Amino acid sequence: MAKKREQWSSNFGFLMAAAGSAVGLGNIWKFPYVAGHNGGAIFLIFYILILLVIGIPILIAEMSVGRATHLNSIDACKKISPRWAFVGAIGFLASFVIMSYYCVIGGWVLKYIVTYILTDKINDPTAFFNNFCSSSIEPIVWLFIFVALTALIVMNGISNGIERISKIFLPLLFVFIIIIAINSLLLPGASKGVKFFFVPDFSEINGIGDIGKIFLSALGQVFFSLSLGMGTLITYGSYLDKNANITKNAVSIPVLDTMIAILAGLAILPAVFAYNLEPGAGPGLIFQVLPTVFANMRFGRFIAILFFVLVFFAAITSAISLLEVVSAYFIDHKNVSRNTAALGSSLAIFIMAFFVSLSFGVLGGFKVLGMNIFELFTTLTDKILMPIGGFLMCILVGYIWGIPNMLKEISSNGLYKTKFKTGISVTIRYIAPALILLIFVFSFM
Ligand code: TRP
Repeated sequence: MAKKREQWSSNFGFLMAAAGSAVGLGNIWKFPYVAGHNGGAIFLIFYILILLVIGIPILIAEMSVGRATHLNSIDACKKISPRWAFVGAIGFLASFVIMSYYCVIGGWVLKYIVTYILTDKINDPTAFFNNFCSSSIEPIVWLFIFVALTALIVMNGISNGIERISKIFLPLLFVFIIIIAINSLLLPGASKGVKFFFVPDFSEINGIGDIGKIFLSALGQVFFSLSLGMGTLITYGSYLDKNANITKNAVSIPVLDTMIAILAGLAILPAVFAYNLEPGAGPGLIFQVLPTVFANMRFGRFIAILFFVLVFFAAITSAISLLEVVSAYFIDHKNVSRNTAALGSSLAIFIMAFFVSLSFGVLGGFKVLGMNIFELFTTLTDKILMPIGGFLMCILVGYIWGIPNMLKEISSNGLYKTKFKTGISVTIRYIAPALILLIFVFSFM
C-alpha cells in the first residue's frame, strides 16, 4: 500500500525551497519598516539574537519532527502522540488562512508587473491603487492567476515542482534585490534612509518599556519571517533524506532569510528617503509609496519591473509552501493523488480569498469585532494561531516527544555531532515557550 514518499533531489534544492518559504512579503514590506521604527540597529541586534537563541532551535525541532515521521504536519504530530494531532491541525488551519490573504496580495503584484510592462509610470499611485484594489472583478482575476500558478507548481511535486522553481526563483531574487539596493544607495540623499535603518535613535527610546516593545516586535518578526510554528518545516522536512544535515540547514535558512531582509531594507529605505517620502508598513509602502519613487528615478520603469518580479518570486515561493502544508495532508491521509489534493485545496483557498479581495471594496463594510475580513484573517494568524502553534510545538517536542528523540534525529543516527545540546534543550523546553507566552499576553494589552 505505501507509496514511496517523494524526496528533495538535493540538499541545495531543499535549502532553496525552505529559504524560499521563509523569504516572502514579510521580508520585503514588513522588515524594513519594523526595523526602522523600532530603533534600527537595536532592532537588528535583538532580531539576530532571537534568531540564534529561539529561531534556530525551533527550526531544528520542526524539521526533525518532519524527518522522523515522514508525514504531513497533522499526522506527524499524531504519530508522536495521538492526542497532539491538534497542534498540526492549528498549522494546517493557519496555512489555509494565511494563503487566503497572501494570494490576494500576490495577485496585486502580478497586476503591477503587467502595468509597468505596459506603461511608463503610474501617475497618481494612491488613486491607482485604491481604484484597483477596491474593484470587484480585476483583482479577483489576478488572484485567480496567482492561485493557479501556485497550484501548478505544487501539482508538479516536490522535486519537479517546488524544488525546481525555488532553485531558479530564489537566486534570481537575490540578484535583483542586489541590483535595486545598489541603485538606491547611489541616489542623492540615500544616506538618510541608511541612517534610519542602521543607526539607533536613542531619543525614541524612553526606558525599559520601549526596549521590551522592540524585543517583542523582533520576536514576532522572527516567527513570521521564518514561517515558524505552523508546520511548514515539518512538511518540508518530511521530504528530507535520512542523511541530510538538519542543523546545518537550520543555520543556512535564517542566514539567507536575514540577508534578504536587510537587502530589502537597503533597496527600499534609501530610495524612499531620497525622495522625502514616508516609509509606511504593509501594502501602502510597495503599492503606493514606491511607484512615486520609480516615477522620479532614472530607469524607474525597469527598476519597477525588476522590483515587482522579485516580490512575485518571494511571494510565490512562500505560497507554494503554504499550499503544500494543506495538500500534503490530503495526499498522505486521504490517499488522494497530488493533482486532486493541490487542485481541491487551491479551490477552497480561492473561495476564501475571493472574500478577502472583496473586503477591500464592496465587502469593506462587513466587519467582525471592528475588523474587515482581511484584518480579521491577518489578526487571527499573526496574533493568535502563530503564537499558539509555536508554543505548542515547543511543548510537543520538548516534553511529549522528548529532547533525546530529537537529538537522535538531528544526528542522523550518529552521523553528525551536535553542539549546544543543552542550549537547544533549554530553549525548546523553557525559554521559547516562556517568551512566546509573553508576546501573546502583551499583544493583547
Ligand atoms: N515567511 C513568509 C514571509 O516572510 C510567510 C510565510 C510562509 C509564513 N509560510 C508561512 C508565515 C508559514 C507563517 C507560517 O512572508
